Amino acid sequence: MTGDEIRQKHRQYLMPATINYYQEPLAVESAKGLTITDADGREYLDFFGGILTVSLSHANEDVNGAVRVQLDRLSHISSLYPTAPMVQVAEALAGIMPGDVSQSFFTASGTEADEMAVMLAMTHTGKSEIIALRNGYSGRSALAQSLMGHANWRILPQQIAGVKHAVQPDCYRCPFNLKYPSCNIQCARDIENLIQYTTTGQIAGFLAEPVQGVGGFVVPPKEYFEVAVGIVRKYGGLFIADEVQTGFGRTGDHWWGFQHFGVQPDIVTMAKGIANGLPAANCMTTPTIAKSLPRLTLSTFGGNPLAMAAAKATLEVMQREDIPARSARLGARLRAGLEALQVRFPSNIGQVRGLGLMQAIEIVVDEVAGDRTPDAALTARIFEAARAEGLIIGKGGRWGNVFRIAPPMLIDEAQIDDGLAMLERALVAAKAR
Ligand SMILES: Cc1ncc(COP(=O)(O)O)c(C=O)c1O
Repeated sequence: MTGDEIRQKHRQYLMPATINYYQEPLAVESAKGLTITDADGREYLDFFGGILTVSLSHANEDVNGAVRVQLDRLSHISSLYPTAPMVQVAEALAGIMPGDVSQSFFTASGTEADEMAVMLAMTHTGKSEIIALRNGYSGRSALAQSLMGHANWRILPQQIAGVKHAVQPDCYRCPFNLKYPSCNIQCARDIENLIQYTTTGQIAGFLAEPVQGVGGFVVPPKEYFEVAVGIVRKYGGLFIADEVQTGFGRTGDHWWGFQHFGVQPDIVTMAKGIANGLPAANCMTTPTIAKSLPRLTLSTFGGNPLAMAAAKATLEVMQREDIPARSARLGARLRAGLEALQVRFPSNIGQVRGLGLMQAIEIVVDEVAGDRTPDAALTARIFEAARAEGLIIGKGGRWGNVFRIAPPMLIDEAQIDDGLAMLERALVAAKAR
């Protein structure tokens, strides 16, 4: 099918609420390595990896080979039956997870993993109120939307009354208008206020992304989680780290985003990059917390053998290639290139931020003149221009004015430089200053 034929049928047979990037949606036909090919044969360099899911590379031979073998052996049986790939992945994950967080519950999406995490926090503590973060993203179920702190992704009004949203730890747009470090991490300290004034005084947990993903790769100040989690524990709550975007070495140096902040979660959720693009997700916790679920439960597609074979192979490649170190090294190169672009376009690139191979630039009206108003029109022009250059990047942020750059992590130096050059040309074409 041509791109036009695919787009026409998409308009006709898929619900209009299905979000697509670009004025003329990009109909993708195939992908290999970091190259995406569209239905009309045009190639693009992928700096977004299917929203951070293609963690290694497209059509990775190690992963695909493992899936092919598994496909002929057993493609599905449900979580009612233990399988070798499922227990092997659970064991491998326990091996790279710090602390006592060692037991898994596999699901098919990050949304369900977050649901499981909240359920566990509630059953373990006997409490029901949850602290989530403004600017956070948790998925698309009713609970996940209630956890979420973004009007633009919330379809229905908040339905789960027990979710309270603490302010976002965003130093570029500090909700208290303070400056780090003299702010004394007010964003974290305010959680105590939130608990005391808006809850019964005892909470089930605190769910947070170590780096806010959809929110625009917002990195909290380094003391944030120590202070926040200290308060949460004082009021009886568990700490749930949502590693859906930050997991698997993405943030560099460590396997998990929370490790940058010197805290140990009680529950960890993960999805996206776990299986190099096959649908798999997981909620992990300690044996003690896991035991608190009063009934048995299942996820039909959770731990699907194909997804688990992919996850097992993905983890093996990640260990072999030392992805956390690689992500730190290549992320530093990407970061330096983005900072050079900021020097060239100081008015419109308000901030460069991120960790490892999870970097973002925020597009504003005029940083030099002190005007940090999100520039939606310029963002849209740059986005389209990058595509025209042959570069695929992501968007995010509360106002959609943040470019998220998170390529498959087997990217090499030359590909980083190529992508940066394309982005520079896109900024010029869009008339950034
Ligand atoms: C941090 C985070 N948590 C949860 C989710 C939900 O995952 P899924 O879309 O697989 O349900 C997402 C999806 O983007 C996410 O970024």
